[in-house]
Formats: sequence, structure tokens, C-alpha cells
Amino acid sequence: MSISVSQVSKNYGIQKALDQVSFNISTGELVGFLGPNGAGKSTLMKIITGYLCADGGSVVINGETVETKNISIRSQIGYLPENNPLYTDLYVREYLEMVAGFYQLKHKKEQVLKMIELTGLKAEQHKKIGMLSKGYRQRVGLAQALIHDPAVLILDEPTTGLDPNQLEEIRQLIRTISAHKTVMISTHIMQEVEAICSRVIIINQGKLVADGSILDLKSGQIEQKQTVLVEFNKAPEVELLRKISGLRKLEAINSSTFLVESDHTIDLRPALFHFAVANQLVLLTLKEQQQSLENVFQELTR
Ligand SMILES: Nc1ncnc2c1ncn2[C@@H]1O[C@H](COP(=O)(O)OP(=O)(O)OP(=O)(O)O)[C@@H](O)[C@H]1O
Ligand SMILES: [Mg+2]
Repeated sequence: MSISVSQVSKNYGIQKALDQVSFNISTGELVGFLGPNGAGKSTLMKIITGYLCADGGSVVINGETVETKNISIRSQIGYLPENNPLYTDLYVREYLEMVAGFYQLKHKKEQVLKMIELTGLKAEQHKKIGMLSKGYRQRVGLAQALIHDPAVLILDEPTTGLDPNQLEEIRQLIRTISAHKTVMISTHIMQEVEAICSRVIIINQGKLVADGSILDLKSGQIEQKQTVLVEFNKAPEVELLRKISGLRKLEAINSSTFLVESDHTIDLRPALFHFAVANQLVLLTLKEQQQSLENVFQELTR
């Protein structure tokens, strides 16, 4: 199922939480949703899942407009809200059976057992939710989001507070279940995005600031720049180097090594090669730089 978010805005009183955000997610995509604290991620996820009304714009899932009253579309969406709210006084199975009841599932007990198996809750299934460790509570949250086999999955920070082993297991679980679903996952962990997502959407102060593949982001496509590391065998005449057509920024690492920046539509490497030849220099390094996702994130959301 596809998700189409168009021109969605939301205000909380005088505060603008979302400002005309638009993007499309195709069926089967696993998209990472990033943004600093307070950017509006959870707000948008609540609007996509129909828990909150937008002030402007619309969300369409598989051709159907999401509205708080539209129960049929909400039954197609699995949602793990931020901070994973659960009924801590209920037993794991009891709680999952209650959720299965909300969705009026035909084979409630079987489905609950299937979810317990899928999310690795078997050993803990007889405990009260309040007795579970954080990682296992997170699994209960995932199980309730998945119990009705939704085509769309919206996970708001599903891996916060997990230890490295649990983290890897939950990521693997998300990867497995995402094979047949459209998934949107918010997180502050960049490695997580790189490990499981094919595409990244970044919002900042309620506005969309990037939407592209991880490769696009790291190679500067989104920020529209190319950075090349160039090292000569000896110091060039810097003023001449600066004059290379298309070069817009030059940073000296030492007297013979530089980082040069251009617009992403201009590849400076051929010109740098010709510069070296014309100035009787030997090129020791000529390499397009990839940025880390952290750097890109910081530049886009500073
Ligand atoms: N119910 C509310 N009433 C008033 N303001 C709210 C409410 N919910 C969210 N906000 C504000 O809207 C903005 C966006 O919040 P939101 O929770 O969507 O951010 P977020 O990107 O999920 O942040 P985080 O990474 O910290 O979870 C914040 O400034 C927040 O204080
Ligand atoms: Mg949030």
C-alpha cells in the first residue's frame, strides 16, 4: 500500500508543528524518518495513522483518505506510538488478545500465539507487561502493531533504549516483516537508518528538508554539492587552483592536499587532473568524498 502525504500542516495553538509537508512512499518501501527533537515526526506519524487531524493537507493510503473516523483504513495500519504506551497491569497474552479483539480478528488465540512467536516473546508470555524489561516491552509494542497483519506499518522510535543485542534482533525483525509491507520508521540512530532503510526523509522545524536514497544524501545530491579530496606531490600555486572553473570552495588540509567543492552537477576531477598536468604536478589522490549521514543530518537541520 502506498502512502501519499500532501501539504500537511499542523499547529498546536500558536506553534507550527508541521508546515506543508509532502512526500510519497511506494508499496514495499522501508523509509527512515529523521529530524531533531521537536521537528514534528511524531505529530506527522499520528496524522498518518489517523490519531490526529491535520489542519491542512491530506494523507491518502492506497487511494483512501485517512481520517480519524475512517475505521476501514485504520485497520490496514499498524502503529507503534512513541514511548510505547502499554497496559502494564495486563499479562502479555491477555493484552495481545484484547488488541486482537479490537480488530475483531477471527482466530484471535492463534494470531496472538503467532505474534508471540514472531516477536520472540515466548519465554515471557506469562508475565505481566509491567514486569518485562524494556526490550521485551518493545516487542509487545511491535506485536500489537503487527497483530492484524497490516499492510502499512508506522513505527515511532521502535528501538529506543535497547541493548546492542536486542537492537540487532529488533532490526532484523523489522527487516523481515518489512518485506511485504510499507514501513515508515522514525529514529535518532543514524546507523539504524543505514542498516535497514533504503530511503530517508528528513524534517526540520516542521518542514521537509531532504527526501532521497542514503547514497544520494551521502554523495551530496541533496545538498547539491560535490566534494573532492585532491593531493599533489608538492604544493601547487593555490591562487591558480582556486581559479579552476566550477570550484566554489577550497579548504587546505596541508600545503599539497585540499578539499575542493563544486555544485553537484559539476565533476571537478577532470579539471583537477588537467591542472596537475599543466602545472607539472603529480596527482597522488583524487577522490570524491562521501559524507557521513550524521554530517548531512547536521548540515540540513542546524
Ligand atoms: N499535544 C501537543 N500540544 C502542544 N504542542 C505539542 C503537542 N504535541 C507536540 N507538540 C509540539 O510540536 C512540536 C513537534 O513535536 P513532535 O512530538 O511531533 O516532535 P518529534 O519530531 O517527534 O520530536 P522527538 O524527536 O523529540 O520525538 C514540538 O515543538 C512539540 O512541543
Ligand atoms: Mg517524537
